[in-house]
Amino acid sequence: MRVLSGIQPSGKLHIGNYFGMMKPALALQQKHQVYLFIANYHALTTVHDANIMRQGTLDVALDFLACGLDPHKTVFYRQSDVPEITELTWLLSVTTPMGLLERCHSYKDKLAKGIAASHALFSYPVLMTADILAVQSAIVPVGMDQKQHLEVARDVALKFNNQYKKVFKIPEPMIQEEVAVVPGIDGQKMSKSYDNTIEIFGSKKQTRKAIMRIVTDSKTLEEPKDPDNCNIFALYKLFANSEECKKLESHYRTGGMGYGDAKKELVTKFEEHFAPMRTRREELANNINHVESILQDGAARAKKVIIPTLTAARSAVGLE
Ligand code: ADP
Ligand code: TRP
Repeated sequence: MRVLSGIQPSGKLHIGNYFGMMKPALALQQKHQVYLFIANYHALTTVHDANIMRQGTLDVALDFLACGLDPHKTVFYRQSDVPEITELTWLLSVTTPMGLLERCHSYKDKLAKGIAASHALFSYPVLMTADILAVQSAIVPVGMDQKQHLEVARDVALKFNNQYKKVFKIPEPMIQEEVAVVPGIDGQKMSKSYDNTIEIFGSKKQTRKAIMRIVTDSKTLEEPKDPDNCNIFALYKLFANSEECKKLESHYRTGGMGYGDAKKELVTKFEEHFAPMRTRREELANNINHVESILQDGAARAKKVIIPTLTAARSAVGLE
């Protein structure tokens, strides 16, 4: 089965990205044909500095490879190395109703955050539709916030197939229910734009500092605590096995353990999990030419499926 997902190089990746999208997508590499790409055309909607864009793109490449992306199995590419995607975007925008885009929460949320309204920001879901349909992906692993964009992709594909001829496979989202939304250190959804993240590859000091800032209620050390309503526990659960979770849960319920100690447990778990990946990332960062060749090879492999799709779509609308 073909699986595709992408991530924007619009800031340092955090554990919301990791548990919501990267880990589930990477887990599929062994059994499926996985396509993962760096959505730099998308990031242009919010990143307006060329150097930041270049650095962010490289960082995402290093992050994915360090977190276990196997370039022999997975097709890993930069979106802009496959400009055919933008042509497909135009063909698809013909069958995209305005109303569908006007209803998108993500666009409205971005305006509410003060991002200037642009045509690219508004038509972002059409580009995302093209990413998905271009590779004829069956499954798209994403976090909950992308669910509506997947509905747009499905609607547009159905409409195109009905209006012209059946060119596109209809994709299904894959959302990890148990980690649908990873909370940030302030308890809201963890997001680059809320300044509430724990970066995957921040320094040890930064990680510790972020974890120590996690917001809790003001219960004293002695008081029993509710693990189901605690941001520290919600994050701990992502790293720990069920035995470890039960142990911490019982400490919470009995009382006698402060939030500071729970935070220390989380720091330890975090380090255990990401330390080997951090080492790998450092090695890769010292061999940028190798990373570049992985991306070039990925683009060439992606084009092998994307060009035939584009050709079929061009023919369906009467361009060839
Ligand atoms: P951000 O909100 O930090 O800008 P993106 O929108 O770039 O993150 O998301 C990239 C991917 O990571 C998407 O698939 C998204 O659903 C997932 N993701 C982002 N934040 C979270 C979160 N807090 N919990 C779960 N998944 C998330
Ligand atoms: N919109 C996604 C995000 O912000 C990134 C993305 C772009 C994507 N194209 C995609 C995700 C195609 C999955 C499939 O997270």
